[in-house]
Amino acid sequence: MMAFKTLGQFIIEKQADFPYAKGELSRLLRDIGIAAKMINREVNKAGLVDILGENGNHNVQGEAQKKLDVYADEQFVEALTRGGECCYIASEEHEECIEVSLKNSVSKGKYMVCMDPLDGSANIDLNVSVGSIFSIYRRERLDTPVSEEEILQYGHEQVAAGYVIYGSSTMLVYTTGKGVNGFTLDPSIGEFCLSHPNMQVPVDGNSYSVNEGNYLKFPQYIKDYIKYCQEEDSVTSRPYTSRYIGSMVADIHRTLIMGGVFLYPETSSYPSGKLRLLYECNPMAFIIEQAGGKAVSGKERVLGIKPSHLHQRTPIVIGSKNMVDKVLSFKKENS
Ligand code: AHG
Ligand code: MN
Ligand code: MN
Ligand code: MN
Repeated sequence: MMAFKTLGQFIIEKQADFPYAKGELSRLLRDIGIAAKMINREVNKAGLVDILGENGNHNVQGEAQKKLDVYADEQFVEALTRGGECCYIASEEHEECIEVSLKNSVSKGKYMVCMDPLDGSANIDLNVSVGSIFSIYRRERLDTPVSEEEILQYGHEQVAAGYVIYGSSTMLVYTTGKGVNGFTLDPSIGEFCLSHPNMQVPVDGNSYSVNEGNYLKFPQYIKDYIKYCQEEDSVTSRPYTSRYIGSMVADIHRTLIMGGVFLYPETSSYPSGKLRLLYECNPMAFIIEQAGGKAVSGKERVLGIKPSHLHQRTPIVIGSKNMVDKVLSFKKENS
């Protein structure tokens, strides 16, 4: 039986990449891994424990909140508070940022975390893969009280980003800016083990991923690109396959592994797109770029967008570099 390297061993080994780090980021990633294991335990029992369905509230997004949205949020906040490395949390499930008490912390809590505690909530009760997404920033200075402006940083300033996918197996995929690595949870020992070292997005793929129910509301260049995907052309192995799971984490994970392009464009009902910049698009863009792919809003690089508020949304086209460039080429033809 092959002995796999655990997430903890890998993080310590990679510590050498950050000579000035004193282990805080490593401990922060460990804390996120702990929350992921707690959430995984409930996701795997969903249907047997009272964790399905809605809790009767609506979150700041105007979405009917699911019990698992709240449970996942609580697990991350608890693990990050206990860990003491994070001083500030922006969560999809909270209108304002959470200031984390550092009274028991031995470190200065120099990190801030943006998170989507449970991504793909609409799929929870359907036994379809869901996930969690996180994005980590470092505070510039520690001698002033933390404020919302500090977390509104460009995506290219992320220190680390990752996601957990609760699917046929549970995986944690993350980057600290030196490539992307995937870890599969071995439930028999309760450890994430390195299973996908140095993940790379193929430069080309043959699947496109978009909610075609919005077709009539898409901008013309997106409509033209979808038509292009559906044309017969053996040289470019078209028509492409259409794959849309409805959980961003699952659609991006497939794209990362087999290539392809995922699109959530602006529509008449979502003029800025539906997906949130801070805790969905920026972390996924960081991961995909680190794996050799590309992520744009249609106007600019996602990681180059200056956030103005916590829950702002952005259109996104993300995945295999050549396929993202092809989408953009239709924009030029139309402009
Ligand atoms: P969340 O469950 O965190 O609110 O995110 C749902 C998002 C994302 O996971 C997915 O890609 C998208 O919503 C699907 O939206 P549509 O159902 O409009 O296609
Ligand atoms: Mn939601
Ligand atoms: Mn989400
Ligand atoms: Mn969510």
